[in-house]
Amino acid sequence: MTTIIDGTKTAQTVRGEVAKAVAQFTQETSVRPGLAVVLVGEDPASHSYVSMKERDCDEVGIVSFDHRLSETTTQDELNALIDMLNADDKVHGILVQMPLPNHLDEEQIIARIAPEKDVDGFHPYNMGCLLRGEPAPRACTPWGVMRLLDEYDIEVAGTHAVVIGRSNIVGKPQALMLLERNATVTICHSRTPDLPAVCREADILVAAVGRPAMVDASYVKEGAVVIDVGINRTEAGTLVGDVDFAAVEARASAITPVPGGVGPMTRAMLMSNTYEACATAQGSA
Ligand code: GUN
Repeated sequence: MTTIIDGTKTAQTVRGEVAKAVAQFTQETSVRPGLAVVLVGEDPASHSYVSMKERDCDEVGIVSFDHRLSETTTQDELNALIDMLNADDKVHGILVQMPLPNHLDEEQIIARIAPEKDVDGFHPYNMGCLLRGEPAPRACTPWGVMRLLDEYDIEVAGTHAVVIGRSNIVGKPQALMLLERNATVTICHSRTPDLPAVCREADILVAAVGRPAMVDASYVKEGAVVIDVGINRTEAGTLVGDVDFAAVEARASAITPVPGGVGPMTRAMLMSNTYEACATAQGSA
């Protein structure tokens, strides 16, 4: 029987844990964790993600500070906002929703956020900490994948994990997190020869490429754990992952669906990272 890994349920569990930790922390310190969410422009998908993050904050007792800026915001204006949020004691986490409009420099913005408030884990300092195996905020999507593996008692140490995709947001940090947990890790990408053959070596296969249903049964070893990070919107408006679920399900020992797999975990781990950033700031104050 294939286990269907339920991200919606696990995200609810994580939010419950964060809500409990926040309530206790706030009772002891009178400090409420604060998350600033910055959204530039009118992208409808980004607007909907940001609204959901604000709803999550309400649920777990985190104060959200909403900054919705016009499409024509300049780099200087955005820089000034980041500087202000960096200096604001009530703000423990800063999230700038990506992608930014083309005229803005994402890398410059990411690097400007104070590393201790970078709850996305995208800052070069925090990525460096991950590389070195030191504590720091971890990127929410791959961190959510690790939590799913733990929740379902899936052993990571000693396995061969194959990650398809090498983005800074998912593929690279995912590979490092699996390595940190003692997997033997292969990172594949568009220039990998015979990708299906490499993927068939995987005990844990993580697909983070952004190509609808690319991973079919020829990529999957019998009994592998298949994690689908892809969220691709079809022309009809439905969501499909990078994995052809119907074709792969029977071969896998466990698999994440889309929607309802990795997706909900990203926002839940953001709540967890924000609480941790606040507790760390308070501890060092
Ligand atoms: N856009 C898509 N995913 C993310 C994310 O995890 N963080 C931010 N800041 N923007 C995103």
